[in-house]
Amino acid sequence: MEEFPKPPFERILFVCCNEREPGEDACANRGSAELQKKLKDYMKSKDLKGRCRISRAMCLGQCAVGPNVCVYPENVWYHHVTEKDLGEIQRRWIDSMCS
Ligand code: FES
Repeated sequence: MEEFPKPPFERILFVCCNEREPGEDACANRGSAELQKKLKDYMKSKDLKGRCRISRAMCLGQCAVGPNVCVYPENVWYHHVTEKDLGEIQRRWIDSMCS
């Protein structure tokens, strides 16, 4: 293997989109796919494609408290994320890349 000479992205937001059977603890069962799409659309609207990614993740190991989002390289994690939290996430992690 070869190491990238520099990280290909400045920031990645991983949104757990793991699915399980209905009624089981899983972020996708609580609407995380819609959260991921909204964050991605917002990031694209800010013309950050190529610098930032909003990635769909498999299980992040915190299923009981999902939907979960984690931000790298800062290693900041959010749990119980709802649509009303997206504004704060967008401001802190996406808008801050535009200045
Ligand atoms: S299903 Fe999302 S953290 Fe496990």
